[in-house]
Formats: sequence, C-alpha cells, structure tokens
Amino acid sequence: MYDFYFGDKESIEKDPKQWLITIKRMLPRWPNGIPDTEFLAIYDQLTALEADGTFQRDRKMVLVETGSGASTIVLLYFSLKWDTELYTWDISGNKLSYLRAMLTDTLLRHFSEKNIFNHWKYVAYDSKSPYVGIPMLAELGRTVVGCFLDSDHTWDNLKSEVAAVCPLMVKGGMVAIDDGNYTYGRVNTAYVNMLRTKLGLSSVDIPDNRCGTFWEETEALLKTRFPRVENQNGGTYRQNFETDIFWSYYSADRRNMADLGMEKLNELAHRFDAWRVYHE
Ligand SMILES: C[S@@+](CC[C@H](N)C(=O)[O-])C[C@H]1O[C@@H](n2cnc3c(N)ncnc32)[C@H](O)[C@@H]1O
Repeated sequence: MYDFYFGDKESIEKDPKQWLITIKRMLPRWPNGIPDTEFLAIYDQLTALEADGTFQRDRKMVLVETGSGASTIVLLYFSLKWDTELYTWDISGNKLSYLRAMLTDTLLRHFSEKNIFNHWKYVAYDSKSPYVGIPMLAELGRTVVGCFLDSDHTWDNLKSEVAAVCPLMVKGGMVAIDDGNYTYGRVNTAYVNMLRTKLGLSSVDIPDNRCGTFWEETEALLKTRFPRVENQNGGTYRQNFETDIFWSYYSADRRNMADLGMEKLNELAHRFDAWRVYHE
C-alpha cells in the first residue's frame, strides 16, 4: 500500500521535512489527526532540542507520545536519527499495527540498517497505567527529552499524563500537547455527542465538565513542578497555521466536526502548545 518511491537517500537527507510531510499527506484521514503545520512544528521543536544540546546521545533519553497517528512519523524519525527510542501509547492495537506497516515501508526503507523494534516501543494500553503506562519508564531507567500528548482529550486524562511525565523530564526537555484550546474536564462531550448522533441519540450536556483551556491548565501544572517553564508560543505552528492546506483539504469533515463542537475553528491558534522545562 505504501510502496511509493520517495527519492534517493541523498535527496531525502537534503530535505527531510519535505519527505516526512509527503509521507504524512499520503495517510488516510483517520490516522492523520494533526494539521501539517503542527506536524512540522514538532519537527522544529525536536530540531531545537538537538541543536542546543538538550538531547544527548550518551544518556537513555527517549521520546514519548500518547495517541498514535501522523505524529508518530515525525517522532519516530527523530528516534531513528538520534539512535534512541520512541515510546507510544495507544489503546488501539489495530492503529499501531497499521502504522507499523506504513512506517516500515517509509522511514525504515530509508534507515534500512535499523530495526523498527529497537526504536519504536508501542504499548496498546492506557498511558496512565502504573504498570505499563508512562510511569514504567522509571523502572526502565529512561528519561524523557520530548513528549507529545494527544490521547483522550479530557483534562482528567491529560493532567495524569503530564503529572506522569514530569518526574522523567530532562533539563530543558519539551512537553507538547494537541488541542490546547479544549475545555473538557471529565468527558470529551463533543466526541461522545458525535457517537450519540451516529446512534440516533440526542446530544448531552454534562454538568460540571468544564476546565480552563488545556494549554492554561498544563502550563499551571508544569509551573508547580518546575522552577522555570518556557512557553514556546506554539512554535512554528502559530506562525503558519492559518495557511495550512490541511484545513481546506478536510473542510467537509471539519465543518461537520465543528457543528458537533469537536473542532473549535475560531480557536485554532492554541491547537498546538509546547513548553521547555528546567529544574533550576
Ligand atoms: C487524536 S488521536 C491521536 C492523533 C495522532 N497524535 C496524530 O498525530 O494523528 C487519539 C488517540 O488516542 C488513543 N487513546 C485514547 N485514550 C487513550 C489512553 N487512555 N491511552 C492511550 N491512548 C489513548 C486513541 O485510540 C486514539 O488513537
């Protein structure tokens, strides 16, 4: 299925961003959950971690992702390039399996001397599990240089993921989130109502289900854990998101999602947020 020719090694290495975005754009919609500009902003944030020496090869510094999809492409690329590991949590084993086939046909064709299993550790389970979720990285002696949190979009869930990753973060490491504009406390009402609509049920309005925006809540939580937290102002995402072709390409689907409250079209500036955290 993904047996395309993406150019020779030299041209890929000359412009890896172009290669990665081409792979992303060939995904079907269901695993392609983030806009192109957000995908590239993750690339730019990780490049900065390398350029300023935050990522060091001699330590067990790994990358973390909750909620697999397009983001897995760019995160695994850095895991392969840096010769480290990407840990991904997704409760959908089928999605992980689908992505593994696509990643093998693309990234691993380029990094042909490498074995995907040494660089991508995926866990088809709840990211919050104390046994096999994010906290088990401490048992493995890993630290986290960068994470992208994009699983269940409630503050209850995101708060637990942020809290779990904080003790593992290296000095200057990156914490990034998707859908920073959401305000669902316990239940992602928009998602639930999308499922209810398809079942022929009326929408529900759940009481006491609002929190601050995810980006504000996340920043406040990080500030209780680290003496210095640097907000990245959305990185390159906020500079470029308005002209992203993702919006027009998927406009029909996005309009319907907006009608159900899933896509906050007027709050897209905070769709992506990232912070660098420091221990002093
Ligand atoms: C919005 S999608 C992720 C999009 C992806 N980051 C991308 O770039 O396309 C959310 C994913 O989170 C997974 N998920 C939901 N709750 C989870 C949990 N508690 N632990 C791990 N994964 C979860 C879902 O199965 C789904 O695949």
